[in-house]
Amino acid sequence: MKEVRDFLKECGMYFLATTEGDQPRVRPFGTAEIFEGKLYIETGKKKNVSKQIETNPKVELCACKDERWLRVEGVLVRDDRREAKQDMLDKNPELKRLYSADDDNTEVLYFDHAKATFYSFTEEPKVIEF
Ligand SMILES: Cc1cc2nc3c(=O)[nH]c(=O)nc-3n(C[C@H](O)[C@H](O)[C@H](O)COP(=O)(O)O)c2cc1C
Repeated sequence: MKEVRDFLKECGMYFLATTEGDQPRVRPFGTAEIFEGKLYIETGKKKNVSKQIETNPKVELCACKDERWLRVEGVLVRDDRREAKQDMLDKNPELKRLYSADDDNTEVLYFDHAKATFYSFTEEPKVIEF
């Protein structure tokens, strides 16, 4: 899982796909942190992405760097605990301009039943499940 988190950080951003009915939705994301052995992302409950995850928590993300790319598919589980939000904010202090662990908007979610696959043009895909 650390390899997945580190790759996402190296990429600087990734694209997170959700669904809205039968319409795929995709947007850039950057948050990716490990807390208590789980891979977390952060968003705002006011955003459409949050509402889409609430309706259908199955998501997929994609990131790439040089000639390697990563897909992570899984189910996102919201963690409403203050300590989980605070950990995310402490690791990403720039988020504190917009979010706080005590507002009604900040939301952190972790991947459950996740399958991460690293690809490259030259090597066999490498699968990590967590
Ligand atoms: C590089 C980059 C990283 C971003 N990271 C995040 C993130 O981690 N969480 C988040 O909620 N929004 C992030 N955003 C903003 C979202 O892409 C933006 O709010 C988007 O419109 C949300 O999707 P939605 O419109 O479907 O709700 C990021 C934007 C950029 C350009």
